[in-house]
Amino acid sequence: MANVTDLMIMREQALAAVQGAPDVAELEAVRVRWLGRSGLLTAALRSVAALPIEERRAFGAAANQVKADLELALDQGSARVRGAATLAQFASEQADLSLPPRRLRLGRLHPISRTIREVSRILATMGFETVEGPEVESDYYNFEALNIPRGHPARDKFNTLWVSDPLGDDPERPVLLRTHTSPMQIRVMESRRPPIRVCVPGRCYRFEATDATHESVFFQYEGLAIDEQLSMADLKGVLYSFARQLFGGERKVKFRPDYFPFTEPSAEIAFDCFVCNGGGRTNSGACRTCGGSGWIEAAGCGMVHPAALRRVGYDPERHQGFAFGGGIERLAMLLTGTPDIRLFQTNDLRFLETA
Ligand code: PHE
Repeated sequence: MANVTDLMIMREQALAAVQGAPDVAELEAVRVRWLGRSGLLTAALRSVAALPIEERRAFGAAANQVKADLELALDQGSARVRGAATLAQFASEQADLSLPPRRLRLGRLHPISRTIREVSRILATMGFETVEGPEVESDYYNFEALNIPRGHPARDKFNTLWVSDPLGDDPERPVLLRTHTSPMQIRVMESRRPPIRVCVPGRCYRFEATDATHESVFFQYEGLAIDEQLSMADLKGVLYSFARQLFGGERKVKFRPDYFPFTEPSAEIAFDCFVCNGGGRTNSGACRTCGGSGWIEAAGCGMVHPAALRRVGYDPERHQGFAFGGGIERLAMLLTGTPDIRLFQTNDLRFLETA
């Protein structure tokens, strides 16, 4: 027969079980074991009736107190395990903000833009101001004013793309996509007075089949200087400095006679190759940059033709000058080691990120 001491022992055991229960299920098992219909404490309470009358009061009071203590402990235990469960859930659901972000892809300038800026920068060191002109040009500026009249055989090499004039086609004033940047020689001379030093980078167009070194849309740069007493020596000096700043080292400059209707005399400029230093050979055989010749042909040039000077109202006895012009892609291919001109227009990031 249970007595109050037994109740105290039961109390200690039950409270310890509540303390040790790790979760809701275990607490429920403790509750059923002690306070359930056939629980240990329930049985003890029921046994009150069997006690001698003088013990009933003390035992009953103690048993009710143990029951109340146990119920309170169960409530607190329930709060404890639920709180722990919530914290565990939070911990498991926590966003890991320490994840490194996706790598940012930094943009960079297109190799053609870089080359244009480099050409402009270098010419600026010699006083050339960069200006731009229209890509849709008149026959007059692209050809006529440059001594290439209708029927002149030099027209043939330009493979011109003619366009229709939105203001109505006038057979006397045909419109085209400029085939070179040279029309800006005339426009600049018309709108300014000497001394003139300008650099004109810009897009040009020719009706041409595309291959590894030709595109129908491409860029040129033009240099023009007009002053008193300018000569081929000044032209050569400018090109020396240009080549050395662009390619580095002690570049040589070579003039080879050429023909352009708007310059006289005219020449083709070649620089000694900056890869093989003009020797034509590298350790692995013939130099691939210059094709083994030791020279890189870079541009056309010459002294501005007196007829062009007169056309814009200049006196060739007083003012002369020189002009030069070449392909931006050609320079960009040399500087970046790009083997095919078409890569510049395909917008392939694998090329653009490394070129
Ligand atoms: N405009 C010429 C071309 O496209 C190049 C050139 C420019 C030649 C300036 C002489 C002077 O072929």
